[in-house]
Amino acid sequence: MPAQHPTPYDDGELYDSLFDSHHDDLPYWLAFAREGRGPFLDLACGTGRVLMPLLEAGLDGDGLDASKAMLARCSVKARETGKSPALVQGDMCEFRMPRKYARIFCAFNAFAHVLETDAQIAALACVREHLSENGAFAIDLGFPRPEVWSAKPDQRVLEGEFTHPSRPTRLYLFDRRRMDPLAQTQHSQIEIEERDLHGGLLRTHVSHTVLRWTHKLELELLFRAAGYRRWEIHSGFEREPLTPAAQQMIAVAWR
Ligand SMILES: C[S@@+](CC[C@H](N)C(=O)[O-])C[C@H]1O[C@@H](n2cnc3c(N)ncnc32)[C@H](O)[C@@H]1O
Repeated sequence: MPAQHPTPYDDGELYDSLFDSHHDDLPYWLAFAREGRGPFLDLACGTGRVLMPLLEAGLDGDGLDASKAMLARCSVKARETGKSPALVQGDMCEFRMPRKYARIFCAFNAFAHVLETDAQIAALACVREHLSENGAFAIDLGFPRPEVWSAKPDQRVLEGEFTHPSRPTRLYLFDRRRMDPLAQTQHSQIEIEERDLHGGLLRTHVSHTVLRWTHKLELELLFRAAGYRRWEIHSGFEREPLTPAAQQMIAVAWR
């Protein structure tokens, strides 16, 4: 998508009105960061949905993200809670942080924004360089259901409905997708409608994004190519085994 198109990450407040209340993954990331017994890096930290609760739990961590707007929102939240993590604007495929980390993670499908294989390997290698000796990296990545791959393109699908956290409105998230099975990509036009409680449309935020979906064997090859020595891949935050019906991978790779 040309760079001038709005992205879902141009408005940190809007992102938080949809997702800041998504807490299902927080216990997993908290335990993962805690078991490192050292600093953590939240790669593609966005508005700090995961980073902030971990800092508030007393852990020492930093965040990196490509979006200035998402980081701006994150830094307001950090200031409000008296935390001062390093928040760096950068590309996960070529970043430099001033210290190493016991744990690095990339939550909520953020790795799917890396579209090319070379860039995926570069990101994993760059992460590895930032891990301390026994450090580990984790990602969670969804798998589109089989029917998503075969669906008619450009259908407007309602992905979720949300109550606005601070206004008497409802938010409706629609995705109009076009799948490319060869490139393993999903080209989405995302429409977020904000409606009053009578259903009247107040505003619509339209953005575009491309996601690259990665499968288990491919992810293992990527870890291998980037120099990791071992990894585990589960299908959920309770470390459930990966089965053919899985819709998500939680992968941990050790430096
Ligand atoms: C779905 S959001 C996830 C944010 C956060 N990890 C969370 O769990 O709420 C994806 C994030 O990835 C960031 N992102 C996309 N491509 C990136 C890149 N190449 N390098 C760093 N961040 C990137 C976006 O700016 C956005 O904040």
